[in-house]
Amino acid sequence: MDSGGRGLQARPPVGSASDMPEPDQGALRALLTAARLWRNRQIASPRFRALVSRLPLLRIIANRKANQLFRLTTGFVHTQILSACVRLGLFEILDGRVLSTAALASRCGLGPDPMRRLLDQALRLELVVSAGPDRWMLSDAGTVLAADRGLREMIRHHDMLYRDIGDASAFWRGDVGETELRQYWAYVRGDKPAEIDNAQAAPYSALMRESQAMLADCILASHDFSQYGSVLDIGGGEGAFLGAVGARHPSLKLGLFDLPAVTDLAGRHLRDRGLLDRCTLYAGDFTRDLIPAEQDCVTLVRILCDHDDDRVLKILGNLHTHLKPGTRLVVAEAMAGASEGANLAAIYFTTYFTAMGSGRCRTEAEIMALLTRSGFQNARVAATANPLLAGLIVASR
Ligand SMILES: C[S@@+](CC[C@H](N)C(=O)[O-])C[C@H]1O[C@@H](n2cnc3c(N)ncnc32)[C@H](O)[C@@H]1O
Repeated sequence: MDSGGRGLQARPPVGSASDMPEPDQGALRALLTAARLWRNRQIASPRFRALVSRLPLLRIIANRKANQLFRLTTGFVHTQILSACVRLGLFEILDGRVLSTAALASRCGLGPDPMRRLLDQALRLELVVSAGPDRWMLSDAGTVLAADRGLREMIRHHDMLYRDIGDASAFWRGDVGETELRQYWAYVRGDKPAEIDNAQAAPYSALMRESQAMLADCILASHDFSQYGSVLDIGGGEGAFLGAVGARHPSLKLGLFDLPAVTDLAGRHLRDRGLLDRCTLYAGDFTRDLIPAEQDCVTLVRILCDHDDDRVLKILGNLHTHLKPGTRLVVAEAMAGASEGANLAAIYFTTYFTAMGSGRCRTEAEIMALLTRSGFQNARVAATANPLLAGLIVASR
């Protein structure tokens, strides 16, 4: 109950916690630890669990926790159902229509019974909804999956990650050897990334281009690029982010820096989007080559997370050497944090970068510390619309 009255600033009563001396942190920690150990002993006891199951309120809590644990235990099954739906083209087929099981079976190339079984599973996972007896349409999540090819491509490429982490204990022991993801992200191998060729760069560059849409929307909603005259996207891939910035701000001058094999691909993509005239492409290695200094904002989108701290310091050190004082630096990538989205991102990306053998999902504070160590000033967090997609840090050269 709100005893102080809604809207009123309740004053702490005399003798309340705020009048007390600060508790000794060590003693408090010991008390909390003892309480947790006691609680764990109760939960481990079958007699306690039997008691809880007879008390309505506690039973609700216990069942919720049991469901969470079961969801965690069976997550790999959910993933494979989703993966099958993507691979069979279910989301594109159902996009904007209602179809029967038989129609879906013929379009997906499945027999009617396996199709119905998969649709029932997709219904349970809220990927589709029922539109009457034996008729189906997309749910909210299914609609997003149908609309976002990048998301579907990400799900497809998870087959590699799935194989890389198949032997879970070896994986977490660090006994993984040469993983598929390490092959895929060719620039994390060796110290001459500028030598990778188009065949190595094309698959990851296409994935990055396709998966940029939601991220670009999130960044553009969180940072005002209209304050700049020019933007250089470092490690800009095929230019999908730059294309989104350019489309939103038609008077911005655009620049893109990436490995030679990737700037070739970027040239084609930006020409197709009618943006090549406004954009200058720079090919090189961002850890050591000259970075053009004329623009007033540079962006690092999904870049620092790919690299271990020593290479991040080389990237930032090289930028600091070449950029002119006052240049704004915007870092956008998934960051670990307390929100549910940031926590989900950290679980996923920590596993992903471990499989890739390079990089990590850092907290905002860790990224700001690396920026400060490299000489950048006034590093600050800018809130983003969706911490699951990206965090944002802005600093000045
Ligand atoms: C994870 S992708 C991100 C691409 C793009 N920023 C995006 O978010 O879609 C990393 C990019 O950094 C580029 N890259 C990696 N190492 C590089 C280096 N040493 N010098 C220049 N670019 C590099 C890759 O070619 C790739 O395009």
